[in-house]
Amino acid sequence: MEMDSNETQPKVVVSSPARRISLRQMTLSDVDHYMVWATDAKVAQFCSWEPCTSREEAITYITDSVLTHPWLRAICLEDDRPIGYILIMAVDDIRKEIGYVLARKYWGKGFATEAVRLVTAEIFKEMPEIERLEALVDVDNMGSQRVLEKVGFTREGVMRNLIIMKGSVRDMVMFSFLPSDPLK
Ligand SMILES: CC(C)(COP(=O)(O)OP(=O)(O)OC[C@H]1O[C@@H](n2cnc3c(N)ncnc32)[C@H](O)[C@@H]1OP(=O)(O)O)[C@@H](O)C(=O)NCCC(=O)NCCS
Repeated sequence: MEMDSNETQPKVVVSSPARRISLRQMTLSDVDHYMVWATDAKVAQFCSWEPCTSREEAITYITDSVLTHPWLRAICLEDDRPIGYILIMAVDDIRKEIGYVLARKYWGKGFATEAVRLVTAEIFKEMPEIERLEALVDVDNMGSQRVLEKVGFTREGVMRNLIIMKGSVRDMVMFSFLPSDPLK
């Protein structure tokens, strides 16, 4: 992502067609917004991380894991306020995994679907080596499964006993999107 000349304000990467959300790099000054979702146990329920418990912890996490992440974007409202983030993780050279998190107050308004659609539309141009974008979703995380279906990901099936999540062995649904797949 390009930066403005003074290197303080990251440029907006892309806005949704409806211009309800935009994606941009996160900065340390987003810490208070970050804490809104990162401290919420309900948001963390199906995620590998535990809820954040202090501002200091949040600053450390953003510094060590967000600012250094190869591809992570804040999902922002029109006023540039972050309400969550979306990221791409490398599985290997041609497979990448998508993940996303939204503050609970904004669930059910289509924002995650818009963000996933935006990233899915852009990422194959930005990283032409990708042959498969995938998402692994807990079998009980119905909202996330629905988001992927709405964007056009294929539900490939349930991988049984795939991971240990917070002390419990979980079945996970595998979704994928290939460069030739149509976006919905
Ligand atoms: C998953 C998450 C990103 C979805 O965000 P969102 O902005 O609410 O998603 P959208 O509004 O775009 O779409 C949600 C869809 O799921 C549906 N949905 C939500 N909860 C549901 C449930 N329990 N059962 C069935 N459908 C459900 C909604 O009705 C909506 O579908 P619709 O548009 O057909 O009505 C959000 O809930 C979140 O941040 N959860 C915590 C983090 C997380 O689980 N991340 C994903 C890890 S794989």
